[in-house]
Amino acid sequence: MTSFAEKHKKLERNVTLLGVAAFVVVTIGGLVEIAPLFWIDNTVEKVEGVRPYTPLELAGRNIYMREGCYNCHSQMIRPFRDEVERYGHYSLAAESMYDHPFQWGSKRTGPDLARVGKRYSDEWHVQHLKDPRSVVPESIMPKYGFLAETDLNAGDMTTHLKALSRVGVPYTDKDLELANADLKAQADPEADTADLLKRYPKAQARDFDGNPTRLTEMDALVAYLQMLGTLVDFESAQPQELER
Ligand code: HEC
Repeated sequence: MTSFAEKHKKLERNVTLLGVAAFVVVTIGGLVEIAPLFWIDNTVEKVEGVRPYTPLELAGRNIYMREGCYNCHSQMIRPFRDEVERYGHYSLAAESMYDHPFQWGSKRTGPDLARVGKRYSDEWHVQHLKDPRSVVPESIMPKYGFLAETDLNAGDMTTHLKALSRVGVPYTDKDLELANADLKAQADPEADTADLLKRYPKAQARDFDGNPTRLTEMDALVAYLQMLGTLVDFESAQPQELER
């Protein structure tokens, strides 16, 4: 025992030796933690129903980021009873696998939005975004009425989707080719959306902002809010979870 303490004393008193030894230890620890991630191909488990965003949802998501909604809203339901009872099934890693960057957030001035999709009507969202206090009197959320007055100028969605496919989002060639048409079609009640719905299952196609003659930023943002947390069918996913 004493001899071990003696040896350790040598290490403690020699700065260079201690530095080298500490470096070796930290390197081993780092390799053990990080290296497997490069070889395990199921770091994020595949979950049925998760698909890339439609161009319109993506445009809405960009507005969500531009306006800094994440400063007050998280999108990450933690697996605790109080959260699950309030917001629904806890978030799965796969549900944000196509988010670049992800919107988990850590600040909850307002409620978590990970499963806000389909919880309210489009009219509610539009009214709430225009004047939050008209529907929730105690709200401190800012007004975003200008979104309904601003034409959606999302840029070239083909380029946007192409950039995302570079980092692993599986858009098909057809998705890329039709991206700009899809952007408009999803919020156009007159458009034929059968093909869009086939390529993006569970996408909701309709006029979102209450003004079918215009494609506004409000259309895109509400389309995004209405799809949040709606892709995975937890009713049928449960038995699969229990099996393991
Ligand atoms: C300053 C903080 C703040 C910002 C920024 C903010 N919100 Fe909120 N939000 C709140 C608060 C507080 C509530 C709860 C009261 C209410 O419903 O208005 C809320 C509620 C909501 C709800 C209703 C959630 C539910 O489950 O009832 C939605 C949807 C929402 N916000 C969307 C947004 C979007 C989209 C943006 C960005 C355009 C945004 N918020 C920006 C504070 C904020």
